[in-house]
Amino acid sequence: MRVVILESGIAVSERAADLICQCVQSCDSPVLGLATGGTPLATYAELIRRYESGKVSFSKCTTFNLDEYVGLPEGHAESYRVFMQENLFAKADFEMESCHLPDGNETDLAATCAAYEERISRSGGIDLQLLGIGSDGHIAFNEPGSSLASRTRPKALTEQTRLDNARFFNSPEEVPRLAITMGIGSILDARKILLLATGENKAAAVREMAEGPLSASCPASALQLHANATVLLDPAAASQLKRSEYYKHVEKIQQELEQNSFR
Ligand code: PGA
Repeated sequence: MRVVILESGIAVSERAADLICQCVQSCDSPVLGLATGGTPLATYAELIRRYESGKVSFSKCTTFNLDEYVGLPEGHAESYRVFMQENLFAKADFEMESCHLPDGNETDLAATCAAYEERISRSGGIDLQLLGIGSDGHIAFNEPGSSLASRTRPKALTEQTRLDNARFFNSPEEVPRLAITMGIGSILDARKILLLATGENKAAAVREMAEGPLSASCPASALQLHANATVLLDPAAASQLKRSEYYKHVEKIQQELEQNSFR
């Protein structure tokens, strides 16, 4: 896991946009795994800026979102489809037929989940998966206790997650109790993973993910198994890490290696 501690949340979004644009520009048919929530918003805004200034095009991208609530009416302001539409897809040149989210309104949820996995696999798999992290260590809606081998499936949300997400709804009771989520196994299949965390309320989860044991109790710790996972943090999210000086040292050497200036 490459842990990169940056000077601010803005720096996190700029570095994330650099890595996403690199992926989009280096693949013939890029397949992006995308996330919702507060954390990726600044990154999406930066991607839109780069599109508007002609630096990048997303027209060849296929995208798969991590998750969607079950049972919100189509077009509901808090559905993840609407979130993606408003915060990214409609503001750049994405082809809408290539932008996929699980459908939380299908009656046969098991078949919907299997079809989603099948679609990802037919697209050639995900080149770069963007992730946030929950304050309880979840990734996507894989709550603590989720199998590290899990695939796309319906998942009951914890009360903590419902409370965390209540800020987007009129009242906590309106937050759905069920979502469809890609599994931890599905996420680990991505060729690259990019997890972003900002703010003090993520510091404990970030510590567990990077320095705790590999455990279903902290679903994000599964990233320890991935050979190409990068974690971008602001100082507050990194504040409980024990090895932060070492990560900064590694990052300096890594940058020298990438610029061929290592000696
Ligand atoms: P947040 O959510 O970006 O809104 O903090 C992250 C997550 O729950 O994965």
